[in-house]
Amino acid sequence: MTDASRMPDRARLGAVADLDELCAFIGDCRRCRLAETRTTLVFGVGDPGADLLFIGEAPGKNEDLKGEPFVGAAGRLLDELLGSIGLHRSEVYIANVLKCRPPGNRDPQADEIETCTPFLAEQVRLIDPLVIATLGNFATRYVLGTDAGITRLRGRLFEVDGRRVVPIYHPAAALYSPDKRGVLFDDFRRLATVMQWAREGRPVAPTARLSAGHEDWLEVFADPSGGAERSAGEHEADAGEGAPADQQKLF
Ligand code: URA
Repeated sequence: MTDASRMPDRARLGAVADLDELCAFIGDCRRCRLAETRTTLVFGVGDPGADLLFIGEAPGKNEDLKGEPFVGAAGRLLDELLGSIGLHRSEVYIANVLKCRPPGNRDPQADEIETCTPFLAEQVRLIDPLVIATLGNFATRYVLGTDAGITRLRGRLFEVDGRRVVPIYHPAAALYSPDKRGVLFDDFRRLATVMQWAREGRPVAPTARLSAGHEDWLEVFADPSGGAERSAGEHEADAGEGAPADQQKLF
C-alpha cells in the first residue's frame, strides 16, 4: 500500500512553473524503495516546449548510470525511429513512468507508479505536448487508464484531456522480437501523420475522445469478441479485424 506521507504535496506540485523547478522539487527523491538501489534519478530530456512527448517505462542500467532516458540499445533504436520521420531527440521530449531504475530491470510495481507518476503528470502539464506517444504497456496503461495491453492498443489513436495519444510498442520489444521492428517503423510513420494532423488542428474523431475516467474508451474500443489480451506473437491483425467500425484506426 502507498504511504501517503511519501506522496508529493499536490498543491505545491501544481504551482511549479517550469521543468527546472519541477526537477528541483523532486530533488534527491527518497519517496519509494527505488531510491535505495538507483544511481541517478532520470528526470527526462529534450525540448521543454516539444509538441511530441514520448513516455517509456523506467530507466535501465545505462540510463541509471548516465541520468538520461533511452541511451542503451533500446535508445539507439528510438533514435533510429525518430530519424526515420526526420526528428532528433532534441526536438521531442522523452520521459518515463518511473524516474528510477527498478533493480535488475524488473517491472515497475503499482506503488512505485503511484508515487512517481504525479511528477510525470506535471511534466505533461508543463511541456503541454500536442501528442503523447506511449512506449509499451506501462506508459500506455498509465496514460489511457486501462488494463488493456499494447498489442491491442497500438495502431489506434486516442485522445486524453485534449491531447492525442498514440500507443506504440516499446523499442526494446523489437530487440527481443525482430518481427516487431517493421511494426515500430510503420507506427512511427503513423505518428508523423498524427503530428501533422495535430498541427493542422484537425479534430480527432469524436468516437475516439476519452473522458478523464476513460469510461468512454471502454465503450468505444471494447473488443467486440470480449477477448482477453492476445499474446505478443499474434498482434498485427488486432488493430482492425473484427473491431468496431467507429474506432479511429490509423490507416
Ligand atoms: N527503457 C525505458 O522504458 N526507458 C528508458 O529510459 C530506457 C529503456
